[in-house]
Amino acid sequence: MIHIITLILLVSTELSISTNPGVKVRLTKNGLQYANKIAHDEIVKHLQSLNIPDQSGKDGHIEYTLDNIRVKGVTPPASSISLVPGKNGVSWALSNFGISISADWRVKYERGIIHISTSGSVDASVSGINLVETASFGIDKTGHPSIASSGCSASIGDVDVDFHGGISFIINLFRGTVERKIKDLLQPKVCEEVTQLINNDAEKSLATMQITVEIAKRFLLDYRLVASPVITADYLEIWDKGEVFWEAAVKEAPFSPEPLPAWSDNSRMVYIWVTNYTPNTFLYQAHTNGYLKYNLTRKDLPGDNASYLNTTCKLKCIGTIIPQIAKMYPNSTVELHLQSTAIPKAVMTNKTLTVELDTSVNMWAKTPNNTMAYLATLDVNVSLTLQPQIKNETLSEVITDHSFNLTVVKSAVGELHASLLNIVIDGILSFAVIPELNNIAAKGVQLPMVGGVQFNNTFLLLQEGNLLIGTDLQYKVEESNTLHFKAEHYSAIQI
Ligand SMILES: *[C@@H]1O[C@H](CO)[C@@H](O)[C@H](O)[C@H]1NC(C)=O
Ligand SMILES: *[C@@H]1O[C@H](CO)[C@@H](O)[C@H](O)[C@H]1NC(C)=O
Ligand SMILES: *[C@@H]1O[C@H](CO)[C@@H](O)[C@H](O)[C@H]1NC(C)=O
Ligand SMILES: *[C@@H]1O[C@H](CO)[C@@H](O)[C@H](O)[C@H]1NC(C)=O
Ligand SMILES: *[C@@H]1O[C@H](CO)[C@@H](O)[C@H](O)[C@H]1NC(C)=O
Ligand SMILES: *[C@@H]1O[C@H](CO)[C@@H](O)[C@H](O)[C@H]1NC(C)=O
Ligand SMILES: *[C@@H]1O[C@H](CO)[C@@H](O)[C@H](O)[C@H]1NC(C)=O
Ligand SMILES: *[C@@H]1O[C@H](CO)[C@@H](O)[C@H](O)[C@H]1NC(C)=O
Ligand SMILES: *[C@@H]1O[C@H](CO)[C@@H](O)[C@H](O)[C@H]1NC(C)=O
Ligand SMILES: *[C@@H]1O[C@H](CO)[C@@H](O)[C@H](O)[C@H]1NC(C)=O
Repeated sequence: MIHIITLILLVSTELSISTNPGVKVRLTKNGLQYANKIAHDEIVKHLQSLNIPDQSGKDGHIEYTLDNIRVKGVTPPASSISLVPGKNGVSWALSNFGISISADWRVKYERGIIHISTSGSVDASVSGINLVETASFGIDKTGHPSIASSGCSASIGDVDVDFHGGISFIINLFRGTVERKIKDLLQPKVCEEVTQLINNDAEKSLATMQITVEIAKRFLLDYRLVASPVITADYLEIWDKGEVFWEAAVKEAPFSPEPLPAWSDNSRMVYIWVTNYTPNTFLYQAHTNGYLKYNLTRKDLPGDNASYLNTTCKLKCIGTIIPQIAKMYPNSTVELHLQSTAIPKAVMTNKTLTVELDTSVNMWAKTPNNTMAYLATLDVNVSLTLQPQIKNETLSEVITDHSFNLTVVKSAVGELHASLLNIVIDGILSFAVIPELNNIAAKGVQLPMVGGVQFNNTFLLLQEGNLLIGTDLQYKVEESNTLHFKAEHYSAIQI
């Protein structure tokens, strides 16, 4: 709760610091067309299983009900979507949509001693429905995208009603009038409902959309917008903050994202840029909040190398590599207390992604009587080369290479040769630290994509200061969690 309040405060006070995104998502025309196709298929599916609530009413002395309303057929509309830069929005056009229903009707007439009750069934169809809806995007105070209808027009081609049973023969005499009346009632209702759908439902779901992702139970990756969605003739772009915060004490990092270079290939559906700002804010928060500290002990060693930190052993262990430790502390195990000494840096070039980490390593011996004896302090600067990869819509990394420089800052066990310590540290990095970091890095970070969408035909490109993911999308039909349509919005189809 507190961090939410803090976040809101931050947004209102510090949003103006930088408008460069840390993460940018571009949806191209191809992407929009695909989104349109999915929305279209979903709407048709929902219309076919549409539940129209019973209708009833009173007109003077006449009471009527219409129940058991069933959708008998749907003529799927042709649909298209287009970008409207002038309105900072998109326009969605449906044409030639038709629906036919059947229902049971009952009419009661009561006046004085006259009681007439009659019932029957009715077939009705509405065809040639055309709709053009334009929705404009913006940003709200909390960094959520906002949406508002900025234009709607609708027309109805034909309404056809046919009553059966009861006094149908009389009602059918007035068919023309009834049909015209229905058409007049329905026509304005279409835009009214669509506008409400955009201004209420769509707006509400955007306003409550989750814009933070928790990482490692300690960090928050913040995807809130830093600007209104950008709409050009070729794409729609979302500029996300892409900053990582320390969850318990949300505080801005003292640096900002660099501007992103231009990119003109729009052949994929989606492009996502992740700048070095995102890993660097993570590293900044991790270092300044004391997260980059670790006591490496025997427990952290894999079975094959379980004795590596023993001071006494037959073959290869720290005691055989550095005999003076074995001599002073036999039958002991060594602990390495690691701690970052500077803000680590992620460096992205067009070839590699590296993380540079300066650490201080305090070496202790845990003696057989369980006392801790101080051995030495080392200064170790490590450089890790990471290979980014995309799996299951998450961005993860594998450490593919490492190097380090080491100096001895202080020793309580006489002169320590850096060349021997190099062997020890390289062993520890290779079989304890890096596999553990790889386990963490493999979990990856979820990319800012709506659920229910899979990547296909994906590429990943390292550039100066950022990495770019280009991908096509594939909708997972089983999990239709992106689009929710509620039956009540179709209650416009009221007779
Ligand atoms: C490491 O061990 C030292 C002394 O045994 C202790 O004070 C410190 O809190 C430990 N650090 C971590 C990160 O566990
Ligand atoms: C760690 O274990 C592996 C697998 O048994 C072995 O190949 C390697 O030499 C060991 N490393 C050290 C430094 O003992
Ligand atoms: C290494 O040290 C641990 C704990 O003191 C001990 O249990 C283990 O047997 C030792 N391994 C070797 C090979 O001496
Ligand atoms: C180390 O342990 C071995 C086996 O338990 C024992 O024989 C030896 O005396 C011990 N050495 C010292 C210096 O405690
Ligand atoms: C990578 O960057 C270097 C130096 O900035 C430049 O010379 C080189 O052409 C770039 N390579 C690619 C493939 O962009
Ligand atoms: C524990 O062992 C260390 C080193 O082996 C020794 O210096 C110290 O006196 C011992 N302490 C006790 C309480 O036995
Ligand atoms: C990706 O997701 C599928 C299905 O959800 C799962 O079977 C697979 O193990 C996942 N792969 C990775 C690398 O997480
Ligand atoms: C180690 O030192 C060399 C020479 O000063 C330097 O080029 C290299 O970047 C350093 N590596 C790390 C990991 O600090
Ligand atoms: C590690 O980096 C720091 C700061 O860049 C530098 O002062 C120090 O000398 C480096 N240590 C080693 C062992 O290279
Ligand atoms: C995924 O991409 C491949 C290669 O472009 C394409 O052949 C395939 O049809 C795509 N799959 C789906 C489900 O779109």
